Amino acid sequence: MARHLITSALPYINGIKHLGNMVGSMLPADVYARYMRQRGHDVLYICATDEHGTPAELAAKEAGLPVSEFCAQQHDAQKAIYDGFSLAFDYFGRSSSEQNVEITQRIARSLNENGFIEERAIRQVYSLTDGRFLPDRYIVGTCPHCGYDKARGDQCENCTRVLDPTDLIDARSAISGSSELEVRETKHLFLLQSKLANEVEAWIDAVGQEWPTLASSIARKWLTEGLQDRSITRDLDWGVPVPADTWPELAAEGKVFYVWFDAPIEYIGATKEWSDQDPANRDWESWWYEADDVYYTEFMAKDNVPFHTVMFPATQLGTRNPWKKVDYVKAFNWLNYYGGKFSTSQKRGIFTDAALELLPADYWRYFLMAHAPESDDTSFTWELFSASVNKDLADTLGNFVNRVLTFSRKRFGDAVPAGAAAGEAERKLGEEIAQLLAEYEQHMDTLQFRKAAQSLRSLWSAGNAYLEEKAPWLEIKTDQDAAALTLRTAMNLIHLYSVISEPFIPTSARAMRAAFALAGDDRAWVTSDEARALDSVPAGTAFTVPPVLFAKITEEDLESYRERFGGEGA
Ligand code: 2FM
Ligand code: ZN
Repeated sequence: MARHLITSALPYINGIKHLGNMVGSMLPADVYARYMRQRGHDVLYICATDEHGTPAELAAKEAGLPVSEFCAQQHDAQKAIYDGFSLAFDYFGRSSSEQNVEITQRIARSLNENGFIEERAIRQVYSLTDGRFLPDRYIVGTCPHCGYDKARGDQCENCTRVLDPTDLIDARSAISGSSELEVRETKHLFLLQSKLANEVEAWIDAVGQEWPTLASSIARKWLTEGLQDRSITRDLDWGVPVPADTWPELAAEGKVFYVWFDAPIEYIGATKEWSDQDPANRDWESWWYEADDVYYTEFMAKDNVPFHTVMFPATQLGTRNPWKKVDYVKAFNWLNYYGGKFSTSQKRGIFTDAALELLPADYWRYFLMAHAPESDDTSFTWELFSASVNKDLADTLGNFVNRVLTFSRKRFGDAVPAGAAAGEAERKLGEEIAQLLAEYEQHMDTLQFRKAAQSLRSLWSAGNAYLEEKAPWLEIKTDQDAAALTLRTAMNLIHLYSVISEPFIPTSARAMRAAFALAGDDRAWVTSDEARALDSVPAGTAFTVPPVLFAKITEEDLESYRERFGGEGA
């Protein structure tokens, strides 16, 4: 059986992420990892904070902290939120780790030995006042196109035109505000992607067939536009240093690698961080090096696809070492907020910390996955959110659980009643459940989360339909045994739901499972035969009634959310 390596795009360290970031990377990866573990696979789910680059330096500056301190704090803050969302990483690392430094440098050396890195002189803006070269984002000035006076060296935020720092009128340093700037020649390392283009293309031809169109079409587009050689170093104080043994001059100038060079390598670095914590039992290399029995799935939003399908594989191929490359790229479109963009810089939409203050993680997890932007961009609206929570979670699932257990306890006490033997209605229900479960598994196996959520809803609904049809509250008046059979069957459904809902709503699933005093691995997947038989919770099993699983979102709640976060037109 294959081992499954799963990674989700590394969240930038520069601030708390919004729900749009979450739905296109960490959350679906977690849902998939949980599912695969439950099905008995050997899974390793790795993620980390992406800590280098100008955004990190700038955010630290704004917070008035040294970058390393800022990153340490922000890493912990983000990790706490992901714990709150029940993201069960096997390891959540940091791209600034010594492991990543070591592996990034090692990969750069290999690329150099194989002739895929070249030192080139380029012309860059130097600030006399700051005594340093300024990366594009560190230069501000007036946009030559629209006159906006805070345009950045790489792009004007106002008219979105892409700029070169030398285009700016009245250019000045974003650090000191000084306009004592001059253009100087400086050396940087270039990754010769043009020399690797054919190999990357052949590799995509071989593995990209199975990828979702979104991923393969973006990869192809990049290849057709031609792979440019790309500068992979920057003049920053913070980053993976260029190794002095290989490039003494650049190292002495304090050059570091470009964030997009070392970030994907941190997938490997973080695996080593994980392994270094328990070297006797964990072997990072077995997951990444000559790892032919590993199936590797990556999760990311569409803007990350080129780096993962072209630049990182080119980096790996150019080392001529047998690094594990991605097998399946699960890419997502955008989740919008009322049709407009979620925006970190404009603080528009819902941020992950605020979401958790408002409502339990399962509500968000379920909604986000049921509306995941898989085939198209989708929109978050409070109206849609509350409708999904109230109808699917509270009415269909939560109410079923509560009704069945409360009624059974009232009539038959604290153990699952025996009652009559299963009849025609139970046989029909078993058939339906087995079929829906097979559909659910198929969607999960193929990483189609919206469809999977739809199947899960149908499974929940089947229980409600059965209960309405049998109406144990009427049966009990004439036939105790018939009512007991209905309730025992419904309790078996609750147990089934607790197992199969775990990937989407792990906390509620645990509460549902914990209702029954059952021994053994209570998360292990249910086969379709077991599902059909509906007898994994035998008569006589003690149970308790869990507190209400999902509270409904009221009109007043909705009003206050709209007011706080902005609704239509926000
Ligand atoms: O777009 C982003 O949020 C990046 N921080 C993703 C990096 S993914 C990986 F390559 F590290
Ligand atoms: Zn402009």
